[in-house]
Amino acid sequence: MRAAYADDGSRLWLKYDTVSDEAQLKHYRHMIRALLIPGNSPTVQVIRDELRRGVSGLLGKEISVQAAGRAANVLVVATPHHFRALKMTGYASLLDSLGSEGYVIKATKKNGARALVIIANDDRGLLYGSFHFLRLIQTHRALDRIDIISKPRVQLRLLNHWDNIDGSIERGYAGKSLWQWADLPSSIDPRYRDYARACASIGINGTVLNNVNANPRILTPEYLRKVAALADVFRPFGIRMFLSVNFSSPISARFEQEGNRKGGIGDLSTSDPLNPAVRKWWTMKVKEVYRLIPDFGGFLVKASSEGMPGPQEYGRTHADGANMLAEVLEPYGGVVMWRSFVYDAASDADRVKRAYNEFVPLDGQFRSNVFVQAKNGPLDFQPREPVQPLFGAMPRTPMMLELQITQEYLGHSTHLVYLAPMWKEYLQFDTFAGGPGSSLASIVDGTLRKYRMTGIAGVANTGDQQNWCGHFFAQANWFAYGRLAWDHTQSAGDIAKEWIRMTLGNDAGVVSTVHAMMMGSWEACVNYMTPLGLHHIMQVDFHYGPGPRHDTGREDWRSTYYHRADSNGLGFDRSSAGSNAVSQYPAPLPEQFDGLATCPEKYLLWFHHVQWDHRLRSGKTLWDELCSRYYAGTDYVGQMQRQWRSLEHAIDPAIFAHVRARLEAQKTHAAIWRDTCLQYFQEFSGQPIAHPD
Ligand code: GCU
Repeated sequence: MRAAYADDGSRLWLKYDTVSDEAQLKHYRHMIRALLIPGNSPTVQVIRDELRRGVSGLLGKEISVQAAGRAANVLVVATPHHFRALKMTGYASLLDSLGSEGYVIKATKKNGARALVIIANDDRGLLYGSFHFLRLIQTHRALDRIDIISKPRVQLRLLNHWDNIDGSIERGYAGKSLWQWADLPSSIDPRYRDYARACASIGINGTVLNNVNANPRILTPEYLRKVAALADVFRPFGIRMFLSVNFSSPISARFEQEGNRKGGIGDLSTSDPLNPAVRKWWTMKVKEVYRLIPDFGGFLVKASSEGMPGPQEYGRTHADGANMLAEVLEPYGGVVMWRSFVYDAASDADRVKRAYNEFVPLDGQFRSNVFVQAKNGPLDFQPREPVQPLFGAMPRTPMMLELQITQEYLGHSTHLVYLAPMWKEYLQFDTFAGGPGSSLASIVDGTLRKYRMTGIAGVANTGDQQNWCGHFFAQANWFAYGRLAWDHTQSAGDIAKEWIRMTLGNDAGVVSTVHAMMMGSWEACVNYMTPLGLHHIMQVDFHYGPGPRHDTGREDWRSTYYHRADSNGLGFDRSSAGSNAVSQYPAPLPEQFDGLATCPEKYLLWFHHVQWDHRLRSGKTLWDELCSRYYAGTDYVGQMQRQWRSLEHAIDPAIFAHVRARLEAQKTHAAIWRDTCLQYFQEFSGQPIAHPD
């Protein structure tokens, strides 16, 4: 049934509306008469608040929280430390392999008394277990035989905020930054806590607060106090604070005034990583950071990349730069996440090869607390790319995966594009780095290379808009990112269903229709923007609409650089006869990608310049296939509109209207993509645009 009020989306997936199914409700009310939660840490307080609020809401009656008492028809939430007080025996062995974040949720019966238990070694495990427990009720799972063991596959599961200290967000499409810099540290916006709740509920355990294009001022005492205030809010939710830092931070601002972009906040004239004064500056700065934030996580660094300063200016390598910072952070347990997003606009004949060429020779030279953080693909968060070959080529360096939740190249917050199927395609991509079966996921989670530390980052899509993400459906991408970071073996479809049930309700028709809409939405976007391996033909800078014709005179931003359309055909030749980017992959991938007949068609125009009349597996020529893909993509949006309209009776009116309006815009813009690209490419193919029937 339709909700009686207008839902503004601000509660995300933590809605806790009373269970609508009478039988289920009875079951839950019977199983949970009270909450038994001993302990007093700030995290336990968070758990108490969340479970009281969640269970009371879902059960439609106030449920009390006790610190001790009889364990019949109650939910017990406890670490071994409290087992004795609760007379709980026989659980300790369950905890052996769970680490500090894993948990067990179990239905038990002892002497006729039923109980549900959430147990973990550490309060953080209890926190994650509690959110999982709430999810079970939200998705109407029966509890009487519940027996769940869960622990994360990746250690650091971070959000990367590209938030600037002026309140803007680079590639942010949901308003201004959540961080109210002017009001911090004295005033704490209640949304910080809700942000932390949302992150914790999906297992995110760290946040990089500011843009990788880092303003050096983030490290001034003034800003560090603001950052520390946020760290204090996030800490009880198991979320550690990280910062992006500018490599020129130690340099005096005077240099900036003299027209030198390298100005920082220090008093030096250099940021050469091998200069002792530079090292000393960072040592003092890091000491100051840890005085304010004792559990600070570390630095994310974009250096010698897109105009950001870095060690190469001083003839030093990425390893020299990363190691200097790593050495300083090491005594505190901090890490460096050094990004590999590098290319040279002026000189790269094939930009996508650059990261591999710069970083592979450095494998083995990084200190043990350095990650190299690479984007999923070798170019830049395109609708579809093959995997960045660097992942397979740095066996001695922990590689951290950077995904983009914000839809920079996938329709901003206007298009409904569910990204989990895309992330799964990357995670399951076989890199062959250690022979067949070497998925990207097995590199990232450390199982292939036995990394000492593992990590994954998602560029956040949050902002200060009421519904957090601009598009209601963009919330699903934040949710799915966290769920996959915790356990990449979960299916995109299951995650979508969870999210739908938690946000739109458990009505079977709603779940199946919305699930169907979401699951094909990414492939549709690929089809109406960049089918068959096309890439980076977006509007310059804005990266929203089509710009296949664009020529700025700058080699890196000229769209024609990427598609190479001519009267013969279309696509970038990266085969062994072209830029030979195929050679950066381990065997048998180079051979597979090299052959026109063996290259997966989804990557065809990424690796090949293909003749217009070349026949694809469908039997159609390249030109005709291109036309049919562009039409299939836009048609899918029309189908989503019809599916959504069919749910009007079952969806909250405010959410219904919001999504309907966005789908309408998406339909218009997808058609603009299709028509602009086909009309442009037609100038080269010289053939009529084949409309489907
Ligand atoms: C892209 C994006 C930039 C961003 C950069 C990065 O190029 O458009 O806004 O700064 O990636 O990841 O560093």
